Amino acid sequence: MRARVLSGIQPSGNLHIGNYLGALRNWVRSQKDYECFFCIVDLHAITAYQEPAELQAKIRELAALFLAAGIDPKQSAIFAQSDVHAHTELAWMLTCVTPMGWLERMTQFKAKSAKQESVGDGIFQYPVLMAADILLYQAAIVPVGDDQSQHLELTRDIATRFNSLYGDTFVVPKTDLPSVGARIMGLDDPTAKMSKSAIGSGHAIALLDDPAKIQKTMMRATTDSNPEVNFETMGPGVANLLTIYQAFGEKTNEEMRAEFAGMRYGDLKKRVAGMVIAKLEPLQAEYHRIVAEPGYLDGILQEGKERAAPVANQTVATAKSRMGLYKSLATI
Ligand code: TYM
Repeated sequence: MRARVLSGIQPSGNLHIGNYLGALRNWVRSQKDYECFFCIVDLHAITAYQEPAELQAKIRELAALFLAAGIDPKQSAIFAQSDVHAHTELAWMLTCVTPMGWLERMTQFKAKSAKQESVGDGIFQYPVLMAADILLYQAAIVPVGDDQSQHLELTRDIATRFNSLYGDTFVVPKTDLPSVGARIMGLDDPTAKMSKSAIGSGHAIALLDDPAKIQKTMMRATTDSNPEVNFETMGPGVANLLTIYQAFGEKTNEEMRAEFAGMRYGDLKKRVAGMVIAKLEPLQAEYHRIVAEPGYLDGILQEGKERAAPVANQTVATAKSRMGLYKSLATI
């Protein structure tokens, strides 16, 4: 049996180049060696209010983007989290073995809850549901961006604790970060991670932005007071632009120095914009082809669920029996 991979993305906001370089592109690559499960985490999305019709549209948009980026539904399961009931079931069991102190330490919880007057319990429990997503599939590898590293550590801690309390039940997963592009920063503010939920037109490049918009956002990107690229003294804005180029172009550090040392910032931005536009063009064309086919996406999500649910249900059955929960004579 091939080792398994699981990862997920929230269907909220617009998918951007950080999501692509940090996670989605690695998902595509992992299909070669692993049995893969890719989840549209709609239950995570509702930890913040989502307009219902918009959420439904976003779920389909995300499925189409997975496919357009190169996820092959013949090899990998693409499914919606809420469509596989085992996710919420295991989440509760894991909640019961997770000390509150572990959750209170999560930096994303602290950051998100600081912005809100009243903090929903869902935001607090968020990482436990994420642990359930991963452990249900006995995933050995979880390809994510750097901002999820702490949640992955927690997942490992929860799995280890459950295993030591109830006997070996879960594979303890490893985090798979890309070597370049694990944390793409905002173009308007290179000290903040590029984020789907950030408002403001100069912040992110969405995967579906047209060339003119990409060009405009890139040309407005924050740099620093130097006139040209200096690899020794550059600030975070310039470093971020170079990272985007390096990741998309799969360049070595030596190639980057040879190409960019001494280049004026205006030319740097033009070149990075050109690279991003060229790399997104085939993905966008494929996306528009996919969404034009009626019924196709629902079929993909149905097949994905049919592949994911038996694996997830098996893990829940094992976890229930290990914990001593009731098992009826017949399943209905
Ligand atoms: P989400 O939806 O915020 O992001 C999806 C993926 O994109 C990565 N990412 C980035 N990578 C590089 N630079 C950035 N600026 C950037 N912003 C986001 C994220 O690290 C992530 O890999 N909690 C998760 C979703 C989730 C999940 C899971 C992930 C739920 N269950 C199980 C893995 C396994 C999240 O909110 O990702």
